[in-house]
Amino acid sequence: MNELNLILLGPPGAGKGTQGARLRDDLGLPYLATGDLLREHRARETPLGVQAAGYMAAGRLVPDELVIALLLGEISERGKRGFLLDGFPRTPGQADALGAALLSESRELSAAVLVDVPDDALLERTTGRRQCPDGHLYHVVFDRPARAGVCDVDGKVLVQRDDDHAEIVRERLRVYHDCTAPLVDYYRARGLLLRVDGLRPADAVYASLREALAVPELAL
Ligand code: AP5
Repeated sequence: MNELNLILLGPPGAGKGTQGARLRDDLGLPYLATGDLLREHRARETPLGVQAAGYMAAGRLVPDELVIALLLGEISERGKRGFLLDGFPRTPGQADALGAALLSESRELSAAVLVDVPDDALLERTTGRRQCPDGHLYHVVFDRPARAGVCDVDGKVLVQRDDDHAEIVRERLRVYHDCTAPLVDYYRARGLLLRVDGLRPADAVYASLREALAVPELAL
């Protein structure tokens, strides 16, 4: 296989976005993050964004048919020669749809990388997250900007995501365990699962991730 088709798996706040940005920059792969795409639709008040908003605010999954159409469309447009997915698939139905779409083009997944972090660390990660409108990520404890509340990169004001309040995060974690965690076994059974310990500092996580991806058949 001469293209890299990667999935980042993991619970809310595990560091998929943090690690995904580094992988995107280093590997030059189109980075398709469902949460970011849905938030863009919501901000533009597209029909999809309007339909998705209530689910997102409640910490629930947006229905499969909407998300599958969105992501397969993005892969057709931007991911024809490889991709890095963050936040998709999130249900076995989404995983089946992705697998079938790739197979229909004689393509296949390279790996599904699980960024593994236990629940008790995730509440602090998510409730302390701050980001600028362009998506640059910070944390009030683990990754502080030089000036409190202001993005180092573009000087924009940092905000808290509306689904990063504790009660919504608890619901997102419940949904993760019910609907998304089964994908760990799904990809393990297909010989595609790679796991990294996401509890360590972000640089150490990234070093492990690169090491895990540097297996011969992935040919980075
Ligand atoms: P989405 O935006 O995908 O949220 P998520 O999967 O819950 O993941 P997060 O973005 O919260 O966390 P992350 O793992 O990227 O962590 P990050 O790197 O930011 O989805 C939002 C919503 O959209 C869903 O609830 C759902 O409604 C909908 N949706 C999306 N995809 C869908 C789908 N496929 N199907 C249906 N609905 C869908 O890091 C978090 C914080 O921790 C940051 O502050 C960061 O600085 C810090 N941090 C990161 N790494 C470390 C580290 N190693 N040590 C210390 N701090 C760290």
